[in-house]
Amino acid sequence: IRKTSFKNVSHPNGTSQYLPHILIIGVRKGGTRALLEMLSLHSHISAAESEIHFFDLEDQYKRGLEWYLDQMPFSYPHQLTVEKTPAYFTSDVVPERVYNMNSTIRLLLILRDPIERVLSDYTQVFYNHKQKNKSYPAVEDLLLKNDELNTDYKAINRSLYHIFMENWLKYFPLKNIYIVDGDRLIKDPFPEMQKVERFLNLSPQINVSNFYFNKTKGFYCLRDSGRDRCLHESKGRAHPQIKPFLLGKLRDYFHEPNKKFFELVGQTFDWL
Ligand code: A3P
Repeated sequence: IRKTSFKNVSHPNGTSQYLPHILIIGVRKGGTRALLEMLSLHSHISAAESEIHFFDLEDQYKRGLEWYLDQMPFSYPHQLTVEKTPAYFTSDVVPERVYNMNSTIRLLLILRDPIERVLSDYTQVFYNHKQKNKSYPAVEDLLLKNDELNTDYKAINRSLYHIFMENWLKYFPLKNIYIVDGDRLIKDPFPEMQKVERFLNLSPQINVSNFYFNKTKGFYCLRDSGRDRCLHESKGRAHPQIKPFLLGKLRDYFHEPNKKFFELVGQTFDWL
């Protein structure tokens, strides 16, 4: 469906708005922004800049598909439109809603070591509070309850990937969901992006010279037509150190869920 099928409005230069052909569904703090930016290096990709939250927030969803379409970038007919909202992956209602829009849509899911993701999630919320001059508990106070792992902590729950994946697999075949290894995307983005290109049947355009390691940032940055850019300073922050006994508890806790996830997707990851 494109814009013209609703309103017959298209841009004079031959572009129009299209509902997404590709969704980056999450996971929150998995490296979703990096993935979107890196994918945008490809000339056949047209990305919605902001997170639309169309499928997960009731107020947005009730505005309808035409509103969603209106949030999409203007693009050429040969381009694929991509939207990313990391909250989609962990929402109960989103898979069915996406299915109802387009049952053959291609989904990208970028995952990181679940423990690393917990710490990244914590760090994000910590800084959100700091920005508003509000205090936020130390990470160990959230991770522990009566000296045991506090499994009610939201950040821990969001790392139980198998639970969410099961729900997505009720609606979409595994072959339509590509899982990007977020830990590898950090360490060496180019090979991961080649795999993404292949999954999306895009011509091989993204090049090794599109990436350079920035020592100051400690992460890869992008080079596009001679223009260098790193991700925002909120991406790639230091995480709090946690005590070895707590790390041990987290490892024990995630052992089974990780195994379940690997079985579900027929693939393993180097998670601790
Ligand atoms: P941290 O800031 O905790 O390290 P998201 O965009 O989904 O919120 O994910 C943010 C994470 O993307 C960052 O988490 C960082 O580790 C990761 N990331 C991956 N590649 C990156 C890159 N090239 N530059 C900065 N951050 C990157």
